[in-house]
This record gives sequence, C-alpha cells and structure tokens, in this order.
Amino acid sequence: MTDTMKISSIKELYSTDEFNFWAYKEYSLLPEEKFFIETFLDKSLKTLEAGTGGGRIVSSMHKIGFKDLYAFDYVSDFIEIAKNKNNFNNICFSVDNAISLNYKDGEFEQLLYLQQVISLIEDEAGRYNAFQEAYRILKKGGTAIFSLLNFDSRVTSPLYTLYLAYLRILRKFCNVNRSIQYLPQLKYAGEINLESLLDKPPYLYWYRLEEAYQIIQSANFKIVALGSDFQVSQGRMHTSLETLKQAPNQGMLYFVCTK
Ligand SMILES: C[S@@+](CC[C@H](N)C(=O)[O-])C[C@H]1O[C@@H](n2cnc3c(N)ncnc32)[C@H](O)[C@@H]1O
Repeated sequence: MTDTMKISSIKELYSTDEFNFWAYKEYSLLPEEKFFIETFLDKSLKTLEAGTGGGRIVSSMHKIGFKDLYAFDYVSDFIEIAKNKNNFNNICFSVDNAISLNYKDGEFEQLLYLQQVISLIEDEAGRYNAFQEAYRILKKGGTAIFSLLNFDSRVTSPLYTLYLAYLRILRKFCNVNRSIQYLPQLKYAGEINLESLLDKPPYLYWYRLEEAYQIIQSANFKIVALGSDFQVSQGRMHTSLETLKQAPNQGMLYFVCTK
C-alpha cells in the first residue's frame, strides 16, 4: 500500500507516488504503442507527444527513426529528467498543460496522446479543452492519436462490477452525486491504493465508446480509425462506430483522427 495518504489531484499523484515509476521507465514501446506509431505515423513529420513523463515514448520514437520530435508534461520534474536523459538534445521537451498549450496553431503534423492522458484530466471542461487544444495545434491534414480509459470494457469484469456496485452504494449513502465513470485509481505505481476502497480522490475518467466518439467529433476531428485493445491485438481497427459497436470491446479505447 502507498504510504502517502492524502493525494488530492492527479498532478500531485504524478509528482509523488507515481513519479519514480514513470520517470525512470525503460525506453521501450508497448506492443499497442508500437502498433499505432508504426501503422499511422510518418517518421519524417513533426510530431508531439503529450504527457511524456520521463520521455519513454518519445525517446523510443527517436530510436526507431523519428526525426522531428517534441514532448510536454505538466510535471516540471519529469521534464527535467527527460531533458537530462536526452544527451544529444535532439528532442524538444517542455512543461505544458494539455488543457491550455503554449504551442502555435497548426504547429504539428502528428500528435500522440497515449497512456490515456486525457482521462487523467479531472473535469469535463478540461478534457474538452484538451481535445480542442490538440485540434488547434495540429496542422490541416495532420494525424492525432488518442487513447482513453474504456468504461464499457471495465464493466465486463466480474470483480470490477462488484467494486462498481459497492461504489454506487457508498456514493448514495454519502450523498455524493459523482458519475460512476469517475473512479479512483486502484493501484499507485503497481501497489494497491487502499484509499480507492474509501472512494477518495483523485479520480480518473472512464469513457463510454459512443461518448468518446461524440466528444472527439465535437472538437472537429475526423475519426479515421477506432478500436480497443482487442482490435489492436488483431491488427485491424474499425473505420466506423457502428461496426465497432457490434465487435468485441476490450482494454483501452483508441482513436486515430485527422484535421
Ligand atoms: C501514465 S503517465 C505516462 C507517461 C509517459 N507517456 C509514458 O508512457 O511513459 C501520464 C503522464 O501524463 C502527464 N499528464 C497528466 N495530465 C496532464 C496534463 N493535463 N498535461 C500534461 N501532462 C499531463 C502526467 O504527469 C504523466 O507524466
């Protein structure tokens, strides 16, 4: 169990209990990250990674041949570490918040928002701003990839269904009117977070498939491919919401979009 008992925001969580875990992660890509990067991105184009932590994803992209790389995180200590590890100074790291970015309109040809970074934004307006900001900094014709926590998949796990039923009762009993899609993180840096049993903040936001689809569209993106980890494991994303709704939905949600 974590010994930090009073973490109240996601930013504080990443600055404390989750810090070492993400700051010093080995530079390699997970299979699903590799799939999206290799299938949908072009190594020669100007590319930005959101929520880079210690720079794992962006540095791995450099290793496989991406040339023009940028990355940001709102925890300045992560950016310090990422910069220090980047001996050849060939990736441009900066401290920035996905909700309100300092980059120029249309500055990037490709955007990568993996590891569910938008699900870590604790309020609805902030999450919407993050999609709008991504749209603003993407060049016309460019590609943006988002991964999001997937509520529809989570509710299919029997153990998790029990936990959700428990949370619903607890929230009702405590007169808390919080959507069940806001959930405490069960583990911090791989260790059980006992505060999750008490429904303590901070909360992550778990999207429903249709909801995520509508929000991304309402930020003006054109969705060209979508799916969950199931589709990634098959190497075949869907191109329409209607066909994906009929298909297995397991793991995270992924959207490949253009402007
Ligand atoms: C799950 S970690 C992933 C880190 C890194 N991308 C990796 O995969 O190794 C999520 C990261 O997103 C950052 N983050 C969360 N919300 C953010 C926001 N609104 N703006 C910028 N960074 C954010 C956190 O500080 C953390 O470094």
